[in-house]
Amino acid sequence: MKLRLSIVLVFVVFIGLQAQKTFKLYSPDKTLELTVQEKKGEVSYALKKDGKPLLGSSNLGFALKEGDLSKDFKIVETKTSSKDESWSQPWGEEIDVRNHYNELFVELKQKKGEKRALNIRFRAFDDGIGFRYEFPKQTNLDKFTITDEKTTFDFLKDHKSWSLSYNAEFYEGLYRDRALSKLDTISTPLTIETENGFYLAVHEANLTNFASLNLFPTGSTKTELKAYLTPWANGDKVYLETGSVSPWRTLIVATSPGDLMLSRLMLNLNEPNRIKDTSWIKPGRYIGIWWGIHMEKYTWKQGPTHGAETSNVLRYIDFAAKHGFSGVLVEGWNEGWEEWKDYQFTKPYSDFDIKRITDYAKSKGVKLIGHHETGGATKNYESQMEDAFTYYKSFGVDAVKTGYVGSLLDGKQKHGSQYGVRHYRKVIESAAKHQIMIDNHEPAMPTGLQRTYPNLMTQEGVRGQEWDAWSKDGGNPPNHTTIIPFTRGLAGPMDFTPGTFDFENPVIPGTRVWTTLAKQLALSVVIYSPLQMASDMIENYENKPEFEFLTSVPTTFSKTVVPDAEIGEYVTIARRDLNARDWYVGSITNEKARDIKISLEFLEKGARYKAKIFRDGPGADYLTNPYPVVIEEKIVFKEDVLEFHLASGGGLGILIKKQK
Ligand code: NOJ
Repeated sequence: MKLRLSIVLVFVVFIGLQAQKTFKLYSPDKTLELTVQEKKGEVSYALKKDGKPLLGSSNLGFALKEGDLSKDFKIVETKTSSKDESWSQPWGEEIDVRNHYNELFVELKQKKGEKRALNIRFRAFDDGIGFRYEFPKQTNLDKFTITDEKTTFDFLKDHKSWSLSYNAEFYEGLYRDRALSKLDTISTPLTIETENGFYLAVHEANLTNFASLNLFPTGSTKTELKAYLTPWANGDKVYLETGSVSPWRTLIVATSPGDLMLSRLMLNLNEPNRIKDTSWIKPGRYIGIWWGIHMEKYTWKQGPTHGAETSNVLRYIDFAAKHGFSGVLVEGWNEGWEEWKDYQFTKPYSDFDIKRITDYAKSKGVKLIGHHETGGATKNYESQMEDAFTYYKSFGVDAVKTGYVGSLLDGKQKHGSQYGVRHYRKVIESAAKHQIMIDNHEPAMPTGLQRTYPNLMTQEGVRGQEWDAWSKDGGNPPNHTTIIPFTRGLAGPMDFTPGTFDFENPVIPGTRVWTTLAKQLALSVVIYSPLQMASDMIENYENKPEFEFLTSVPTTFSKTVVPDAEIGEYVTIARRDLNARDWYVGSITNEKARDIKISLEFLEKGARYKAKIFRDGPGADYLTNPYPVVIEEKIVFKEDVLEFHLASGGGLGILIKKQK
């Protein structure tokens, strides 16, 4: 028993005279040391890695309309526990996930006034920490309103960081690198590189009935970041009742950029899967009547060039069947597109014969992927949602892309507010009941809910490739995709939709895809999404040998490794397929051409593999000559280190097949 207590790894130090209480919690590998302290009624936390301070004393608590919930505390009780379990996900960058942590649960009670209670649960993992607030049932607090979250992260030094401004609409903006003290209010994930070589990422997990987390610099040195919760229109932050919890506040601690991406801390802090039968949840690669609309070849609304017109859809289905795509997304199939409002989700346009289309698709082994653009009108959507899912399901549609274009939901509320978060949750739960997978565009920032509802396949919340179609600033700069895997990508799958092969833009000639063609291929490995659309019009894929790469890369993997990466510069990712035989590699660079080395040490010892390489061809350059691609094959082994030249704005993809 004594022995067991000693391995709980929590030490309590009472410095009686100053009435100070300090508790320490260590990660299972003991490299992270979290200190929780109560001093003069305020409770704070601090963090060290390998004995080096990462976070100085940082604040905890809330301001409520009903009174302050950050002061006057005494620690009533603490409890400790540990867990080491593994769980599996139906799809992902890896299937098996280890959840290994030590926990410290702290019960607080205010000494004066209403004597309110607040509990905080801390978990220390080898790859970071998480903590969440729990609002227990109590006599002096029932329904309450949070007006401010007082949580801070005191980073002590003015580290380099990457983040997105809170003002970016639907999180579709460019991540900027700035010193912490220079930040405006930013949305999480926030990624940090410290001078002593640590990589950190602040975000949240299990955001269900709360407001999204944002941060801004505060304190004298502006290296302490304080929570700012996305408000309701009236400025209130969150409405709750006791008996509830906040999302987890998370901090990943890594020693390389790649390890940030391999952390499953956020998923571990979400609830286990609630969908018993997941056999209908199928990742896959699809095509869409989409880029053609953005290029104004087709229209969303019915008319002479209507994209969703039946014969055009049948053509896309034929193409999908021929090239092994699992589905065809069709946008603009239903009434409402004339004004982008009052969408009718069970009323197809008269030239979209849904029965004929879905019967034909079925005969070809392809599925229609549904589309519910709401224009941000969640009330209109919710009033039709059950019927809309039932309708689609009656035609065998089991994946729907939802969309919320409109700067505010219902003309009033922010996407990341508690209002928005509640709506998105309702959609996922309802879709799960109907056995429908969701690809959510213009979402609240993802926080790992796909563990609980694995029908939440992928989300936008990123400045995707569509910006290369119509953005007034010309499109996504080449470094964008070397930053988002380490920032937005940490929050969950991104529906970025790479795979454009023809960069001409007849609508806005100055705007286009700013990559080489080889980089478009690489992005389908680098940017993870279990449902992934090859973005271009089908005619642009015809007779292109590079297309083989897009049709070959799976969308779920048994393992992911990051052989080499530097945030904002370049990244190489390798992913192993489900049967643990073959590997898929993607490498990309920013605007700088560079020579890279890829060590194949992730391959199985003694095995022989055939690598098919799709790399930037001679003279390739994203600005002047984006299309040359060299395709070559070679036999490779675990001991090999491959050397390549990536063009400016370029990349490469490798299919590595295990040989008999
Ligand atoms: C914005 C989405 O991101 C895009 O993919 C879609 O085509 C349009 N909205 C219309 O729904």
